[in-house]
Amino acid sequence: MRVLIIGSGGREHALAWAIAKSPLLSKLYVAPGNPGTAALAENVMLRPTDLAGITAFARERGIDLVVPGTEAPLVAGLADALAGAGIACCGPSAAAARLEGSKLFTKQIAEAAGIPTARWESFSEADAAHEYLERAGAPIVVKADGLAAGKGVVVAASLAEAHAAVTALMEERVHGAAGASVVIEECLTGEELSVFALCDGEEAVFFGAAADHKRVGEGDTGPNTGGMGAVFNPPWATPEVIERAMTEIIRPALREMARRGTPFRGFLFAGLMVGPDGPQLIEFNARFGDPECETVLPMLAGDLLAALLAATKGGLRDVRAAWRPGGSATVVMCARGYPGAYATGSEIYGLDEAGAVPGVTIFHAGTMMGETGGVLANGGRVLAVNGVGQDLREALGRAYAAIDRLDWEDGFCRRDIGWRALRG
Ligand code: AMP
Ligand code: GLY
Repeated sequence: MRVLIIGSGGREHALAWAIAKSPLLSKLYVAPGNPGTAALAENVMLRPTDLAGITAFARERGIDLVVPGTEAPLVAGLADALAGAGIACCGPSAAAARLEGSKLFTKQIAEAAGIPTARWESFSEADAAHEYLERAGAPIVVKADGLAAGKGVVVAASLAEAHAAVTALMEERVHGAAGASVVIEECLTGEELSVFALCDGEEAVFFGAAADHKRVGEGDTGPNTGGMGAVFNPPWATPEVIERAMTEIIRPALREMARRGTPFRGFLFAGLMVGPDGPQLIEFNARFGDPECETVLPMLAGDLLAALLAATKGGLRDVRAAWRPGGSATVVMCARGYPGAYATGSEIYGLDEAGAVPGVTIFHAGTMMGETGGVLANGGRVLAVNGVGQDLREALGRAYAAIDRLDWEDGFCRRDIGWRALRG
């Protein structure tokens, strides 16, 4: 099999790492990839949203399967373009990727399918949104309808904060057109859980659960980020919660998407709040999570490529994902300033020493190769350091031991990843 992965982050490095182990693989490309994927695959200088370029490359090189890691090409219609050229793609069509591209669409699907979720209203006029906030009160959640790189959601503890969010999103358009309309919803309480399912349009196979730490600051404080770290299978991912997530949330959504003529294929990511009434849907994403992917895939016992092929060809019925025993945790090293403005180009030393810690795999998230062969920071989230061990405590200890061997002046990480899971 000749496989092409699309993206350049830690998630795509982890996908490449897992696919590279498959006996089915003959050649692996990543577009555009990063210095981490360059060690496993051939990087191809194509932008993820260059649909024509990717399709032409896939045709020329006889690619058997395209695996998009990131959402932008899916929302832009990569799977449709590839389907038009007869090339298999393990990702949703643009119509099905609306589950991620629009918060409002997700809410409408949830409503139609009877999926448990927070009560909500949507607004395309700032005045009406401000008025609604006065009636609803705080705490309350304000969300940009469109894609905003994981930064379009404000969980407002006070009305002042909520009004400021509406002003920033709708009036100042800090995230551009993504804020043209907003969803305002009830604030849910409980523990967050990311549940993944591999889907073939009809069937869904559970593909791991992880808890992500989204806030930049320790104790889960400060602004939201793409994710500062994650743990595999936290204690609140009980078999009952997973079963309910699959039967009450994932499968009803799949049925509703198929009923609408837009079946969902690929990784469906359900962001859940697990509270006293069980799991409730916060959001869907049309792809694997990042850094969840770097946390879940090291625990996968089976052949990832075989599962992706089954999903693409509609043969998921016989697929079961099997998991290794023990714990897994990922800590993200970020560039100082993230999620605000940050500098790029500083050199990271000690990667080999850090990667030599037992049980540790370092996934490159935002790096580039310097002219003299060193690895330079080239993004907000720069490295995703995964540790696996007998249990979560050992996994975390190993990830932090690796981080302590890194020498990178401009980097920082949270020192408390996994605290909620360790608390029991
Ligand atoms: P989203 O982009 O929808 O995943 O939202 C980002 C983060 O905001 C989530 O991971 C939650 O931490 C938080 N959040 C979103 N919606 C709610 C809600 N209804 N209640 C409480 N927290 C929420
Ligand atoms: N870590 C959350 C996400 O990938 O959206």
